[in-house]
Amino acid sequence: MTPYAAFWLTALLVASSNATPLWFSSEANVLMDSDLRGLSSSVAALFHPASSSPSNGTSSRCRVYPGDAARPSDEAWTKLNELTDGRLVSKPQPQSAVCYPGPAYDGEKCAAITSTWASSYSHMHDPIEAMSPVAQGMTCLPPNVFDSHNCTRGGFPLYVINATTPKHVQLGVNFARNTGVRLVVRNTGHDFLGKSSGADALSIWTHHFKDITYIEEYKDDKLGYSGPAFKAGTGVQAFEMYKAASEKNRTVVGGEGETVGIMGGYIQGGGHSPLSSLFGTGADQVLSFEVVTADGEFVTANSTSNPDLFWAMRGGGGSTFGVATSVTVKAHPEMQTTASRFSFTSEKIGNETFWAGIRAYVDYFIPNADAGTYAYFVIIPNVWTGIFTFNMSPFFAPNKTLQETNALLQPWFSRLDELGIKFDPNVTHFDTFYEAWRSSFPLEVVQKINATTGSRMFPRTNFETEEKRDELFENLRQSSENNRVQVHFNIKAVDPANADNAVNPAWRQNILFAQQAIRWPVNGTAAQTLKLREEFRDGDMKRWRDISPGAGSYLAEADRMEPNFGQAFWGDKYPRLLELKAKWDPKDVFYAATSVGSERWRVESVDGLPNENGKLCRVEG
Ligand SMILES: Cc1cc2nc3c(=O)[nH]c(=O)nc-3n(C[C@H](O)[C@H](O)[C@H](O)COP(=O)(O)OP(=O)(O)OC[C@H]3O[C@@H](n4cnc5c(N)ncnc54)[C@H](O)[C@@H]3O)c2cc1C
Ligand SMILES: *[C@@H]1O[C@H](CO)[C@@H](O)[C@H](O)[C@H]1NC(C)=O
Ligand SMILES: *[C@@H]1O[C@H](CO)[C@@H](O)[C@H](O)[C@H]1NC(C)=O
Ligand SMILES: *[C@@H]1O[C@H](CO)[C@@H](O)[C@H](O)[C@H]1NC(C)=O
Ligand SMILES: *[C@@H]1O[C@H](CO)[C@@H](O)[C@H](O)[C@H]1NC(C)=O
Ligand SMILES: *[C@@H]1O[C@H](CO)[C@@H](O)[C@H](O)[C@H]1NC(C)=O
Ligand SMILES: *[C@@H]1O[C@H](CO)[C@@H](O)[C@H](O)[C@H]1NC(C)=O
Ligand SMILES: *[C@@H]1O[C@H](CO)[C@@H](O)[C@H](O)[C@H]1NC(C)=O
Ligand SMILES: *[C@@H]1O[C@H](CO)[C@@H](O)[C@H](O)[C@H]1NC(C)=O
Ligand SMILES: *[C@@H]1O[C@H](CO)[C@@H](O)[C@H](O)[C@H]1NC(C)=O
Ligand SMILES: *[C@@H]1O[C@H](CO)[C@@H](O)[C@H](O)[C@H]1NC(C)=O
Repeated sequence: MTPYAAFWLTALLVASSNATPLWFSSEANVLMDSDLRGLSSSVAALFHPASSSPSNGTSSRCRVYPGDAARPSDEAWTKLNELTDGRLVSKPQPQSAVCYPGPAYDGEKCAAITSTWASSYSHMHDPIEAMSPVAQGMTCLPPNVFDSHNCTRGGFPLYVINATTPKHVQLGVNFARNTGVRLVVRNTGHDFLGKSSGADALSIWTHHFKDITYIEEYKDDKLGYSGPAFKAGTGVQAFEMYKAASEKNRTVVGGEGETVGIMGGYIQGGGHSPLSSLFGTGADQVLSFEVVTADGEFVTANSTSNPDLFWAMRGGGGSTFGVATSVTVKAHPEMQTTASRFSFTSEKIGNETFWAGIRAYVDYFIPNADAGTYAYFVIIPNVWTGIFTFNMSPFFAPNKTLQETNALLQPWFSRLDELGIKFDPNVTHFDTFYEAWRSSFPLEVVQKINATTGSRMFPRTNFETEEKRDELFENLRQSSENNRVQVHFNIKAVDPANADNAVNPAWRQNILFAQQAIRWPVNGTAAQTLKLREEFRDGDMKRWRDISPGAGSYLAEADRMEPNFGQAFWGDKYPRLLELKAKWDPKDVFYAATSVGSERWRVESVDGLPNENGKLCRVEG
């Protein structure tokens, strides 16, 4: 019996017992040697797991692309479609193809997609769309958003497996590894850096792994956890998970954004949450993953089964060690929550008063995070009017009464009152986290065409003395005066359970997770844009790095040009992650920009900008 058949037998046994449901019924559907019987040996060779594969990939400089002699034949793609139960989507067209001359043109459809283009709901069900067109290569957008003159595929994949079982995923991984075709893993397409895109790639689309099961009592002695849990498919999104949890009178740690794939890229990359100041990061909650590895095997990664893979996938980043099909996470009690939204601008009060209000706030970052709260706020400059806007959206206090929350906010509010700043706070109490989350967070705009974000996790030491707080404040103000849009999260992500995992150690010190964005003229040349992005990296971002030596940046909300990204995203855990990458994916079947081990590869983009519109090739030397 081959090893992969053995997994299938175990799956049946577990599924039919009364024990904790370790696997969803769809997860019993794994690749078996009998699936490949009857194929000619040359075709079968494309689908074998590494353990029995005679081909084992290519050593050419670049991945295999259409037009290359080594490209898979049409028959091979047809077989891939048949073996995946007809779920291979060939050459899916970019959504905006309807806006450009050609057979797909449809003026009405174009108007419709243009009107909802900035909403994540318009893209999350699409097999290829990326919510960051800058990382895709800007080759097919609605002309009213950005005129790309024509619609080409750019950084979009060429084939997509609409996967619903581990077998579909195994076939995709084996095919990519054995043929040398570029592999991409896409869930919702939210990634800021373009890690779910790749020109002319084969994409494994995990969006339809939607099962959710509640586990009353999950016990793992090694992790020291005994309590309720949810097992969820990796396509489950925040709005689905929070609803399912609330129905069981529970909460789970997930992001603020409604549509984010919190069981996919979010959780493997760490994941910060409105609940992080109480429970830590998303990755800290994981009890188990089901994973298809680079060798094409379907395995469990938990504290006792493949514990090193389990360690790496909790924070090491998506598209690196395997494709997860489901995740089991801790469930926490549902809880009352108080939330508040308010804003003020410099328009009537002037710059000095406005900034004095912000400076006063910095004094409360430590106590507020230590009290278990979360604050999501933006500071927005307007170059035309010279007016700055502060917007709190929201201040979020899980497990706190109205009185407790007002008491926490009072010291800062009194100082705002003394300064004569009108901000009209609406402090509202909700019986549940779920209701508070639903009414408090905005649906953020996606599809920005001329912006990139850099981020820094400012540690506690940046706030411990008056001098340090002044220094940090001056740097935030400087960024605003340099026209940077700033997005901030006053949270901590200490880990009450002391999980030993690959989460960026900088999270454990974090008090302010700060983002700033640079915007560039849409009509500039590639060289002009690159120059502005380099100046941002070496200017405003460098100032933030310089005042927080040894701290880090968050891999899921970061600049694709972040220098020394291994240190920035994983700190002193990076060397071990590189070793585990070599062990679990020695052939670099998985690649994503700035992922562990990605230094060995580079997308040779057609315009020279950091995006997915080009071939993925080895870095020479
Ligand atoms: C509007 C918005 C709000 C956000 N809010 C938050 C927030 O509150 N907190 C926070 O921490 N982050 C937040 N993020 C960032 C978010 O965590 C990342 O964009 C994350 O990568 C999204 O994961 P995804 O699976 O939805 O996206 P995708 O773009 O589909 O995937 C992201 C990466 O994960 C990989 N991946 C996805 N699924 C799997 C899988 N099953 N197995 C292996 N690899 C996989 C992909 O290959 C890719 O590399 C937000 C982003 C946006 C755009
Ligand atoms: C292919 O790789 C696997 C491990 O990745 C190895 O066990 C096997 O022997 C290799 N096969 C050949 C023909 O090189
Ligand atoms: C599409 O437009 C771009 C920019 O104008 C141009 O460089 C490219 O050649 C065009 N491609 C096709 C296929 O027409
Ligand atoms: C993908 O599969 C899901 C679930 O079977 C189905 O609803 C959806 O229409 C499919 N999408 C595409 C583009 O094939
Ligand atoms: C880990 O996974 C293995 C294999 O599925 C299983 O036998 C074991 O019980 C799991 N460990 C825990 C703590 O659940
Ligand atoms: C829900 O959970 C909370 C906190 O654990 C508890 O106080 C409350 O009684 C529960 N509500 C229901 C309906 O079970
Ligand atoms: C406030 O500062 C901005 C940017 O530095 C400047 O453009 C604006 O003129 C200032 N406003 C006032 C009223 O001084
Ligand atoms: C929530 O508040 C209650 C009452 O103050 C406290 O007992 C409990 O530990 C808190 N829960 C968390 C997760 O902090
Ligand atoms: C305050 O916020 C709550 C919840 O978002 C909302 O229902 C209520 O209408 C708001 N009150 C005012 C006066 O705006
Ligand atoms: C960036 O694009 C937006 C939206 O099209 C536009 O309003 C803004 O002016 C652009 N910024 C610059 C600096 O060109
Ligand atoms: C972009 O547009 C601005 C304003 O219309 C103009 O001043 C600038 O010269 C243009 N830049 C390029 C590279 O065309």
